[in-house]
Amino acid sequence: MKTIGIVASPRKNGNVDTLVQAVLAGAKEAGHETVKYDLNEMKFQGCQACNYCKTHNGTCRLNDDLAPLLKDIAEADAVVFGTPIYFLQPCGQFRLMQDRLFSFLKPDFTVTLKPGKKAVIVTSQGNPDAALFAGAVKGLEQTLTMYGFKPPAVIQMTAGNSPGAVKERQDLLDKAKAAGKAL
Ligand SMILES: Cc1cc2nc3c(=O)[nH]c(=O)nc-3n(C[C@H](O)[C@H](O)[C@H](O)COP(=O)(O)O)c2cc1C
Repeated sequence: MKTIGIVASPRKNGNVDTLVQAVLAGAKEAGHETVKYDLNEMKFQGCQACNYCKTHNGTCRLNDDLAPLLKDIAEADAVVFGTPIYFLQPCGQFRLMQDRLFSFLKPDFTVTLKPGKKAVIVTSQGNPDAALFAGAVKGLEQTLTMYGFKPPAVIQMTAGNSPGAVKERQDLLDKAKAAGKAL
């Protein structure tokens, strides 16, 4: 079993990174092979809308740092999607990656990914009110459902302006680890 973690936050060991690490630690305890990708350290472009993937068996024309990640998503049993909330939505690094998932869609918009993969969504926001950005989480859930993932577990960090704030949230760290163990 393989679980990959995607961290879109530019803050190393910040709130999203720490929670994704906790999910991966749980998955590792459950016997999974785990890999973490830090998008901010990777050089990649957004989808060029060239439709090359539609005539080349889902292969993206861009041979950049996202190519191994896309291959890993296709092979993984579970994926942890971690992003901070910037301006009410997933941050730019995450959005660029998400657009590249377009290569998993056939011309008729059916999905090439094996259905039934598991997922965990990890978000962190500065605002203390979790309900405020429920729409961003819902949007991600809908995308993953469209791609054939099982309904994802959601870990939502609030009041996360300080990168170490999550260290005070043992409840969320425990929830993240449990979500990883359940993958
Ligand atoms: C460019 C930018 C935009 C942000 N927009 C929001 C926002 O719309 N709502 C919010 O609650 N927090 C916002 N924040 C705060 C981040 O969501 C918060 O710092 C987050 O918890 C960081 O997670 P991290 O430690 O994993 O990087 C923003 C921060 C930045 C840098």
